[in-house]
Amino acid sequence: MKYGYFDNQNREYVITRPDVPAPWTNYLGTEKFCTVISHNAGGYSFYNSPEYNRVTKFRPNASFDRPGHYVYLRDDHSGDYWSISWQPVAKSLDEASYEVRHGLSYSKFQCDYNGIHATKTLFVPKGEDAEVWDVVIKNTSDTPRTISAFSFVEFSFSHIQSDNQNHQMSLYSAGTEYNDGVIEYDLYYNTDEFEGFYYLASTFSPDSYDGQRDNFLGLYRDEANPIAVEQGRCSNTAQTCYNHCGSLHKQFTLQPGEEVRFAYILGIGKGNGARLREKFQDIANVDAAFAQIKAHWDERCNKFQVSSPNQGLDTMINTWTLYQAETCVVWSRFASFIEVGGRTGLGYRDTAQDAISVPHSNPEMTRKRLVDLLRGQVKAGYGLHLFDPDWFDPEKADVAPSKSPTVVPTPSDEDKIHGIKDTCSDDHLWLVPTICNFIKETGEESFIDQVIPYADGGEASVYEHMKAALDFSAEYVGQTGICKGLRADWNDCLNLGGGESAMVSFLHYWALESFIELAEYRGEQDDAEKYRAMAEGVREACETHLWDDEGQWYIRGLTKDGDKIGTAQQTEGRVHLESNTLAVLSGAVSQQRGEKAMDAVDENLFSEYGLHLNAPSFATPNDDIGFVTRVYQGVKENGAIFSHPNPWAWVAEAKLGRGDRAMKFYDALNPYNQNDMIEKRIAEPYSYVQFVMGRDHQDHGRANHPWLTGTSGWAYYAVTNFILGVRTGFDGLTIDPCIPTEWPEFSITRQWRGATYEIKVLNPKGVSKGVASIEVNGDAINGAVPIYAPGSTNHVVVTLG
Ligand code: NOJ
Repeated sequence: MKYGYFDNQNREYVITRPDVPAPWTNYLGTEKFCTVISHNAGGYSFYNSPEYNRVTKFRPNASFDRPGHYVYLRDDHSGDYWSISWQPVAKSLDEASYEVRHGLSYSKFQCDYNGIHATKTLFVPKGEDAEVWDVVIKNTSDTPRTISAFSFVEFSFSHIQSDNQNHQMSLYSAGTEYNDGVIEYDLYYNTDEFEGFYYLASTFSPDSYDGQRDNFLGLYRDEANPIAVEQGRCSNTAQTCYNHCGSLHKQFTLQPGEEVRFAYILGIGKGNGARLREKFQDIANVDAAFAQIKAHWDERCNKFQVSSPNQGLDTMINTWTLYQAETCVVWSRFASFIEVGGRTGLGYRDTAQDAISVPHSNPEMTRKRLVDLLRGQVKAGYGLHLFDPDWFDPEKADVAPSKSPTVVPTPSDEDKIHGIKDTCSDDHLWLVPTICNFIKETGEESFIDQVIPYADGGEASVYEHMKAALDFSAEYVGQTGICKGLRADWNDCLNLGGGESAMVSFLHYWALESFIELAEYRGEQDDAEKYRAMAEGVREACETHLWDDEGQWYIRGLTKDGDKIGTAQQTEGRVHLESNTLAVLSGAVSQQRGEKAMDAVDENLFSEYGLHLNAPSFATPNDDIGFVTRVYQGVKENGAIFSHPNPWAWVAEAKLGRGDRAMKFYDALNPYNQNDMIEKRIAEPYSYVQFVMGRDHQDHGRANHPWLTGTSGWAYYAVTNFILGVRTGFDGLTIDPCIPTEWPEFSITRQWRGATYEIKVLNPKGVSKGVASIEVNGDAINGAVPIYAPGSTNHVVVTLG
């Protein structure tokens, strides 16, 4: 079953049936003001942090995605009313038709009902801490119509998200005021602070208004049937205490064919409502602000565009996967309909991995995140698993996260900096390849020498921080020389403590290889040799202790008592995705073992929805292995199709030269390919999800937790760098694709360090891998494509064979 389609021309996903089985969401905002919005216009806004500067309210886990950012329309002749988004009024789909276009940082809602065509486009202009609702109402009937429009948002009870559940202070200290087309909401009596001061404004002069939620909704009613809309007029109440909303109402008389256009503005900061109200009264300013958002994303997406025989891949890589990856870099894991602001901060490993995918499209944010992470690393080399970057930002360290009178907890140093007991064994290692990738993309070699403080005191260059990370993992090894699992490795639920993690040793090897390449490039021969020897030791330990001869694959690790996890002998958790894929991705293992390991992955873990994390699922609790053994079978880390490591398998197959297998794995996970089976998938087809129910669960194929997952960054990195094979280097562009044998050719436009590379890859012999020749601007070259002058356009022809 299908609910919409991809409009590639406009970079939009178009929902043509609003009765989707779950809210399908989008993110508005490219800077600090953010809204997470569903196709029903349900959702919430926040400034910078969904935990501490919550602007509008949301009730997570309710059966509906409410409340939201709504516009109601009312026929003032008949009294009939509806909303421009299907919900909350939810007219019958036999009487009204709806369309929603989720675009990049905007969502456009459209409704046709009873001779009225209405649209509402929500977006956050660049440079403003506000959301604009661009509304158009057109009379498509042949009689004059009198239509009233009402906005509705419910302001957050407190600027602290958790207080929405149990806080009573706003009953006494918060209030709304109405001034000339602006409802102002002051969370703290008479505050003039920026945060904690929200507003809803309109470009028209309202006929009536409501700042009191319960006056607008009415007793024993809800967003589906507000009394104000039913009666055609708000109560004109703005006052202190109780629950607060922003509703501004205006009546319009429209002749046949006539339309009216106006804007609502939801934002923060005293005085901004009046200022933006005036600005956007000139509707050309709305158009200009919207055009900036479009340009923002065109510029980013155009850094890498592909045209291949696989339409799903093109659609996702050219638009959606990059968009999702950028969203993860900005919001880590803390603002969605699943994570609703209950905890914020950066997940160390999540951010360190996300940041590998966007140095070309967002170098500033990548650099910022790298600095955040380096400041969140301790001298001993490990990273703080979940931390607020503001704690370690010298400019912000002495300033409370919010200047508002409500105390935002600022933990003591001891609480900020955890010890080994709470350390994850993988966090710090991801940083090393990500930093190298950033340098390769930007050429910003000075970054390596930038001195950055450690979280627990002292400071060192980025280069030394990287060494500290590598040294930590060399030190914390178990009896066999394999890295200890500590609190967890990449798998949050594999809690091995002093046991050993195969995936971390393979990851260590990958990080070492990245670092050695950097050290050699910088001429640091001593370091190159020292870490080469370390890598060799890691490789030897892996090959000696992790290969399961009977199964012909790599085990997942060892418990603290030395029991192997993931052998052919076992009936639960026999084969694991992370260790086998990273074994190959890291470059640590031979082609022969690599092929066998990935064959085992294909045989044991493949399904039509992607690769399972482990199989069979664990069924017997075993605290030496970890919480994973207590998760239901087929769910999350226990035998689900956990999306994030799936791209590791695509890279592994690409490195082995098996392009058909890489594409088989890619296609299985690609949400685009599930657009016509939403009855099974449920979740958005334009977003990767954290996990898909595995075959040991009755909902096998159901996709869960969209948007904030490391899958997007890894999917983007894996496809662009290893399947399509365009890899930046310190001093050249390597083009080394690994594609399905049936692809006759494909082309890529890549912008790198200011120059454009128009790349055409020809595959006359139907191979997967192997470059026979490369020509640049008509001249044959050997090896990497050199760096060309900024502004130049260079034509590259690569022939495989
Ligand atoms: C989600 C977490 O955000 C991520 O850090 C972790 O690697 C995966 N779950 C797997 O446990």
